[in-house]
Amino acid sequence: MKIIMLGAPGAGKGTQAKMLAEKYSIPHISTGDIFRANIKNGTELGKKAKSYMDAGNLVPDELVVDLVVDRIGQDDCAKGYILDGFPRTIPQAQALTEALNKVGDKVDYAIDIEVPDENIITRMGGRRACVSCGATYHIKYNPTKVENVCDACNGELIVRDDDKPETVKHRLDTYHEETQPLIDYYNEQGILKEIDGTVDMDVVFNNIVDILGE
Ligand code: AP5
Ligand code: MG
Ligand code: ZN
Repeated sequence: MKIIMLGAPGAGKGTQAKMLAEKYSIPHISTGDIFRANIKNGTELGKKAKSYMDAGNLVPDELVVDLVVDRIGQDDCAKGYILDGFPRTIPQAQALTEALNKVGDKVDYAIDIEVPDENIITRMGGRRACVSCGATYHIKYNPTKVENVCDACNGELIVRDDDKPETVKHRLDTYHEETQPLIDYYNEQGILKEIDGTVDMDVVFNNIVDILGE
């Protein structure tokens, strides 16, 4: 099962992708998490990506496409995967379609989690992310058992550099301009599924599972 998660920053792509990856035993591939790990480890890719991310802009397509195409070609992706945060532009989506076509493959579902911009600004203020494993929490909607300690790995929780309100507003603008057109792109391919992302995260999860099947 090959799935793409669409949705604005903070819509809950990462939260749902993590739960779906566990349920269906397929890898969760988040390009944002890959870039953040590279920044933390001081790699060349991390150095290139950081200024774009901190400003709330997209990293150039050429830094993302090969990385994802390589990743989905690895053995653990044979049964499927969940792409979270990729594709994010029409050229990225076209590159993915072409790469999959070459091996006679295609994406099965593009799940669009819909949340209005107003809700997103409040959500992001309360988000906390684990520096070690990438797990995401919310101080009110999804708190950890011990404050500032990751439930999954005991790692330290941080506020992401791009979660400042001004940057979140800019990320939303970038989303509407560059990523929203993908909704039409996948609708035309007949694989788009729209999900209300404003309800409780377990309800969102069950609604997605209803579409994907047990
Ligand atoms: P990325 O890391 O992908 O960030 P994003 O798309 O902005 O999305 P977020 O991770 O902020 O939100 P999310 O939808 O995963 O929400 P979450 O589950 O955390 O990308 C970061 C940057 O990297 C980009 O800006 C760009 O620069 C670069 N980049 C990455 N991929 C790229 C690409 N392909 N091309 C170019 N550049 C790229 O949830 C948010 C909060 O809400 C959490 O606190 C969560 O607990 C809470 N929450 C979740 N669901 C609910 C619910 N139902 N009710 C209440 N609260 C909820
Ligand atoms: Mg995310
Ligand atoms: Zn962790």
